[in-house]
Amino acid sequence: MNEKRFPEGFYWGAATASYQVEGGIENNDWAVAAREGRVPPCGVACDHYNRFEEDFDIAKELGHNAHRFSIEWSRIEPEEGVFDEKEVEHYRAVIHALKKRGLRPYTTLWHFTLPEWFVAKGGFESSQSPMYFARYASHIMSELGGDLEGISTMNEPNVYASLGWMKGLWPPFYRFSLLGMFKRVTESGDLRAARPKRSPFTPFRYFKVLRNLARAHNEAYDAIKKIEKDMEVSVVKHTIAFDSAGGILNTINMRVANYFWTSFFMNRVVEKCDTIGLNYYHYRKFGDRDVYEKSDMDWDMNPECIYHALKILWRYKKPLFVSEAGLADAKDQYREGYIKKQIAGVHKAVEEGVDVRGHMYWSLLDNYEWAFGFEQRFGLVEIDYETLKRTPRPSAYVYKQICEENRVLD
Ligand code: BGC
Repeated sequence: MNEKRFPEGFYWGAATASYQVEGGIENNDWAVAAREGRVPPCGVACDHYNRFEEDFDIAKELGHNAHRFSIEWSRIEPEEGVFDEKEVEHYRAVIHALKKRGLRPYTTLWHFTLPEWFVAKGGFESSQSPMYFARYASHIMSELGGDLEGISTMNEPNVYASLGWMKGLWPPFYRFSLLGMFKRVTESGDLRAARPKRSPFTPFRYFKVLRNLARAHNEAYDAIKKIEKDMEVSVVKHTIAFDSAGGILNTINMRVANYFWTSFFMNRVVEKCDTIGLNYYHYRKFGDRDVYEKSDMDWDMNPECIYHALKILWRYKKPLFVSEAGLADAKDQYREGYIKKQIAGVHKAVEEGVDVRGHMYWSLLDNYEWAFGFEQRFGLVEIDYETLKRTPRPSAYVYKQICEENRVLD
């Protein structure tokens, strides 16, 4: 057995996101899309809004000392410029509940869902969007700043922009299509339900959205620092670990892919990041013909390659934390091995000098997996959606041992 020990004070936990677990949110773009029949309805989800204490008890029982969650913008600012203090108090209670149990809160301001009023103003296509986002950040900071220990402005800008403006699967459902209308013939069930608007010009809009998101992060950073100059501010970046099997063409492909997926956004925000969160799910090696086992999402399973994703982000020389990484595995047949390999991959990066401070598994609970609804099971804890009963899966106890011992054995 090989012992891989982590630095003292390393944070171990799991992540969730407001819309995916809370339930009862009706005034954001996803709720509107669900009412239009374009994405599955979310309903009460895991009812985490009312059961967060119970869920944090489970996290503590599972050996975690940190937890990542997000604040729902549409709850805090249901109408433009109108802030709901009752909802601010709710998140204050969430933060206190975490701290009381010795869980460090990793807080994200925005995880994909937008208030309806903001969408009506053009969402992140509007040049005004960074100003609205920074105002929201500023409100959270002035109300909750004293309770927070670091804040991430946004989750996965590239995933958000590409699923909403290129693939047409998420609000606002724009799809890149050279063939325009004719593409409909070959589309999948998902796409038929989403009813995307097709256009060959969506890439222009996609890049505009990405630029506005970068500006939104930067303006929010300044707004936060104005209130609390020592607050640790980060961005959470989904990083596909693009790699090359060698040869000039594969290497060029790798560089171009890394540029468009990661550098294009990071170069614009890195000066205003104190730390960076890594969300890791995919490894893609150009020129590789190997076939990998798949998770329930039909994604290749390459957990150890989180190492490459960490190395890609380490180019920015900011402390890193794993803000999400995990798999959908309803039968819990792969999760234990997957987690161990993933953590061994993180350890390899740490050994090579990469400053990684924590690891949040995705996810604490089964939850609403966006366009897939509730069928995909990412949780350490299984949710019975009939009774809302929570049951930790066997793999959760394997992770517990890793968290408590601050090491993985492989
Ligand atoms: C997102 C989560 C999502 C997970 C699994 C990440 O890209 O941040 O919201 O549930 O991946 O697809």
